[in-house]
Amino acid sequence: MTVLLVGSGGREHALAVAIAASPECGRLVIAPGNAGMSDLGEIADVALEDVDGLCALGESVSADLVVVGPEAPLAAGLADRLRERGILCFGPSAAAARIESSKAFSKSFMRRHGIPTAEGQSFTHADAAKAWARKFGRPLVVKASGLAAGKGVIVPEDLRQTEEAIDLLMAGGEIVLEERLDGEELSLIALCDGKDYAVLPAARDHKRLLDGDRGPNTGGMGAYAPACSMEEAEALARLVIAPALRGLAEEGIPFVGALYAGLMLTEKGPRVLEYNARFGDPETQVILPLFASDLLATLAACARGELRRAMPRFTGQHAACVVLASEGYPEHPAKGRVLRIGSLPEGALCLHAGTRVEQGRLVSSGGRVFSVVGVGATHEAALKTAYEAAANVHFEGMHSRRDIGGRAARVAEAVHRALAVFGVGGAYARAGVDIDAGNCAVELMKEAVRSTYGPEVIAGIGAFGGQYDASRLKVFGSPVLVASTDGVGTKTSLALKLGRLKGLGQDMVNHSIDDILVQGARPLFFMDYIAADVLDPAKVAEIVGGMAEACREAGCALLGGETAEMPGTYRQGEMDIAGTIVGLADRDRLLPRDDLAEGDLLIGLSSSGLHTNGYSLARAITAQMDLEHVLPELGESLGEALLRPHRSYLPLLQTALDARPSPIKALAHITGGGLLENIPRVLPAHLDARIHSDSWEWPPIFSLLQRWGSISVEEMRRVFNLGIGMVAIVHAADCARFLSMLPEPAAVIGELVPGEGRVRFV
Ligand code: AMP
Ligand code: GLY
Repeated sequence: MTVLLVGSGGREHALAVAIAASPECGRLVIAPGNAGMSDLGEIADVALEDVDGLCALGESVSADLVVVGPEAPLAAGLADRLRERGILCFGPSAAAARIESSKAFSKSFMRRHGIPTAEGQSFTHADAAKAWARKFGRPLVVKASGLAAGKGVIVPEDLRQTEEAIDLLMAGGEIVLEERLDGEELSLIALCDGKDYAVLPAARDHKRLLDGDRGPNTGGMGAYAPACSMEEAEALARLVIAPALRGLAEEGIPFVGALYAGLMLTEKGPRVLEYNARFGDPETQVILPLFASDLLATLAACARGELRRAMPRFTGQHAACVVLASEGYPEHPAKGRVLRIGSLPEGALCLHAGTRVEQGRLVSSGGRVFSVVGVGATHEAALKTAYEAAANVHFEGMHSRRDIGGRAARVAEAVHRALAVFGVGGAYARAGVDIDAGNCAVELMKEAVRSTYGPEVIAGIGAFGGQYDASRLKVFGSPVLVASTDGVGTKTSLALKLGRLKGLGQDMVNHSIDDILVQGARPLFFMDYIAADVLDPAKVAEIVGGMAEACREAGCALLGGETAEMPGTYRQGEMDIAGTIVGLADRDRLLPRDDLAEGDLLIGLSSSGLHTNGYSLARAITAQMDLEHVLPELGESLGEALLRPHRSYLPLLQTALDARPSPIKALAHITGGGLLENIPRVLPAHLDARIHSDSWEWPPIFSLLQRWGSISVEEMRRVFNLGIGMVAIVHAADCARFLSMLPEPAAVIGELVPGEGRVRFV
């Protein structure tokens, strides 16, 4: 790919490092860049304000993707102009970027979509604003509505200062007054493709100039990540990212790019202070080093509207960033100071922001000059490296904060408390902090469930019965509804023991999707049932959250469900999870087809693990083992390996199922009973499936279970999927075409031979 990166700060230097490292990056052009970026790509001297010039540059280098860093070109319509020219762009349209560029729009948008934010009001006349401020009676924050590079917010101490701030900022046209909130701040950024999002590790920025959060607001003096667990980041995203993304799409301005929610973690739950339509600076500098997967692949997938094909993964490490700013920043930063960078410790990175080369010398050219970043296995190690690196950078008047990352424990606790309000995370809710956790879990659940609704859902959660608009059935001349009910089984006990429940929701839905996929149907809606001796709202919310996520990925509505509390019926602490899926198929394309014949090939598609079968045996074998211990053979803990969620084969098989003619004659979902019992469900009485046992290798988890439990091969085959979760049967002549339609490799594992409807291993 040829990539054009737009921007010139520390954020863009971090983006350039990650993009240049991608195997998919053939050529990187950066406009206007800075002095640190020239060894990562070609610097093009086009200013950020020059939208025409940037478009022309994108065209002249035949950019396959343009990644836009800062907000100003987005607000000026750069992404729209690029898309008009057919150039893919990671960054929102000007209309969608209004979520940042107009605080007045953003405030009313949040209100329209029920997003938790500070109480507030926008004004275009100072007198009206002052009258409202006097009546409000509580401390206020005054914000300029338009873009102000992080400098348009005043936090006044009293009414007099409030009135002064109103006069000062009203000069820009429109202002927003809002209640002043107390708490820790958090930056939550999600990569969005218009409909789906992937949340990144949460970061904490330090906005004030001086140690101890004193002095004026700046663009950001340092940051660290992760500031909470990924599970917590995802729970927060369900509250503040999901409804925003859905709301923008509903208003006809789908958001493609990085959506950044600046949060205040209050005692009443998280509140959105602002949205940004871009990556944060300096948050990006600490988030990108935590990517285990290819950033560029994910950005390109977002731009194409296919994020699901390239969801990011993270290393689990920590990063910290210290900004080295000029004397006089933020009001009047000194420029032209000579910069010296000494040797940096391992794991450190010196990212340039306001630098340029003048007469062969590196000099400062802006307020924030460098972002020095440290990466390490722990928060402390990352900070230590960052500060060691900072000590090796010198220029006259250099200013940095000494207390970056110092409040990490308090921030983590604030996340915990803010989520506990919604029943997520348990501990605080159980300790009885604040309000009714039960009700809040329901609220959070509703949010997740609603996120699966499209216009077809007429009535969903909360109604006596779900209503689903059946007009969609008309797409087929002869529509067939396919339905299936199933449960997760004893995997639930294992997940409860380890306290990891989200995967169970995904298990439930994906298993059901695969069950109807093998009949040629796509899911329409799903309904769940959760029963326990005593319901823990936090647990229910986590499971339902997992179901909603899997449903969203499959375009399936989570139309309704039931939770039942049955003390005495279930053993203490146990739960049962079940559900029903309804899907739609075209009668002419139902599976299995009736033309299975001798010589047809069987193709095995990988499973993600045990899926939802064999847990009674697996639990018996591992009962005495330490499930949290990381095993080198697995590269993860036994618990993680065993709890891997069941995968949905919908994204894998979609292309092949949609093809006309489809190469697929039959599909077998390998569930309880393994290959032995599931393949015969689609075989005619006169054919056998001959499986070549050496045609694939069992994933290590299966070999380990076999060894530990001294289980016979025969029994392994009857209980587990052994690494193959789905088998497709195709005509031999269609095999190559079928394989080319899969996004991942798959192996031929056998063929159909004359017989009596059984599976034979050879
Ligand atoms: P914003 O650009 O809206 O994120 O505001 C910049 C900074 O001002 C935030 O990071 C907060 O530190 C502070 N701030 C903004 N809104 C509020 C509020 N409602 N209550 C307290 N502090 C706020
Ligand atoms: N670090 C704050 C921002 O990027 O807006």
